[in-house]
Amino acid sequence: MMKFAGYSLTAPFTPIYPNILKNYSRLPFDIFKRNWTKSSSVSVHTQKDQVLANAVMVAEQYLPPWFSVAPMMDWTDNHYRTLARLISKHAWLYTEMLAAETIVYQKDNLDRFLAFSPEQHPIVLQIGGNNLENLAKATKLANAYNYDEINFNCGCPSPKVAGHGCFGVRLMLDPKFVGEAMSVIAANTDVPVSVKCRIGVDDHDSYNELCDFIYKVSSLSPTRHFIIHSRKALLNGISPAENRSIPPLKYEYFYGLLRDFPDLRLTINGGINCVDEVNAALRSGAHGVMVGRAAYHNPWHTLGHVDSTIYGAPKSGLTRRQVLEKYQVYGDSVLRKYGQKPGIRDVVKPLLHLFYTEPGNGLWKRKADAAFQHCTTIKSFFEETLGAIPDSVMDSPVMEPPSGRDDLFANVHSLLPPPYETTEQEVLYA
Ligand SMILES: Cc1cc2nc3c(=O)[nH]c(=O)nc-3n(C[C@H](O)[C@H](O)[C@H](O)COP(=O)(O)O)c2cc1C
Repeated sequence: MMKFAGYSLTAPFTPIYPNILKNYSRLPFDIFKRNWTKSSSVSVHTQKDQVLANAVMVAEQYLPPWFSVAPMMDWTDNHYRTLARLISKHAWLYTEMLAAETIVYQKDNLDRFLAFSPEQHPIVLQIGGNNLENLAKATKLANAYNYDEINFNCGCPSPKVAGHGCFGVRLMLDPKFVGEAMSVIAANTDVPVSVKCRIGVDDHDSYNELCDFIYKVSSLSPTRHFIIHSRKALLNGISPAENRSIPPLKYEYFYGLLRDFPDLRLTINGGINCVDEVNAALRSGAHGVMVGRAAYHNPWHTLGHVDSTIYGAPKSGLTRRQVLEKYQVYGDSVLRKYGQKPGIRDVVKPLLHLFYTEPGNGLWKRKADAAFQHCTTIKSFFEETLGAIPDSVMDSPVMEPPSGRDDLFANVHSLLPPPYETTEQEVLYA
């Protein structure tokens, strides 16, 4: 049985924190018994072995990616990730997608795009692109920053990316290329690689086509981790936001993949709104759950429960005042680090959702609007605005988790598509 990221792929999810911590660094990894040699060749076997070895190295340091925060352009920047890490120690954090070309052309300015503080581990860099040479160069350049995994974007439907740019979700139509790209990325990094994709594109939306994609990419490259945004993308001109709500979610495709690809690590994504629903997905067999919008729009009540409810850690008792005190130190240290950037608005942006639905939230936002005009430090911004939030909100730890749709995955196993059946030759040489 393959082991990955510290736990057996088919083992049930058991968030018993003390046991995890006690046993984590001495889990029996059969693959340690093999003789690892790093090779720059793209031979599938040596690469796969290396990737597994690297996965174990990552596994020794962090708890498994049962919960991750999705990559979100303009949202999951360094500032948001700093806030997220102050609230949850164990959530895996993804960067925004960075085009390989940006990394390559900005190679003298890389800190601005790739640097992050060590506290942000475990952190995954998401890259996008369709040029093998640039993907190789970008991966190599990113190595110096020690990301824990490199993820390749095969899910973005934005016209700039999937239209004019011809990458993102459009790549789902060319799995052989994705296999090649993943081999190139893996050959240029020491950490595991993964793919984030949709369940289909336009009329290419059958379960079998999705399986062909997963099968080809995982056969042609060392990719063992796929994150499945469980709705298809429509490339008919609807906006990226509409592409995150109009195509229906089909969780049964995700659970079909779990059944049909037992050697892969599969993370479910799309429409999962709170830790209750995350736990429901894990109990139904998902190896990991990725949450996007809910983690951004309601960070306190989503991320605030991850360590205790998902990972079984003792409740931290952390308050928002404590989080903001630490964030202030961070914020004032990065203001205007690159000329005028980041400005106060950039640094404060992720905080604007910290008091979602709480008393004082509206007043705080109005005060923030005024303070943006003249405050030059985060300290002065907080002094001027935070009086709007009652002490009872500032000083209370996170409350009970909001209850979710317990039945979200209740029927999923009765809706599974017929099992994937195909011959290697049919798929790989099609
Ligand atoms: C503002 C925004 C930006 C996004 N940018 C990216 C991106 O850079 N890369 C990516 O793979 N997905 C991106 N996504 C999609 C999310 O990663 C995620 O798949 C999607 O929001 C569904 O998950 P959710 O329902 O939990 O939000 C973005 C989503 C949003 C809302």
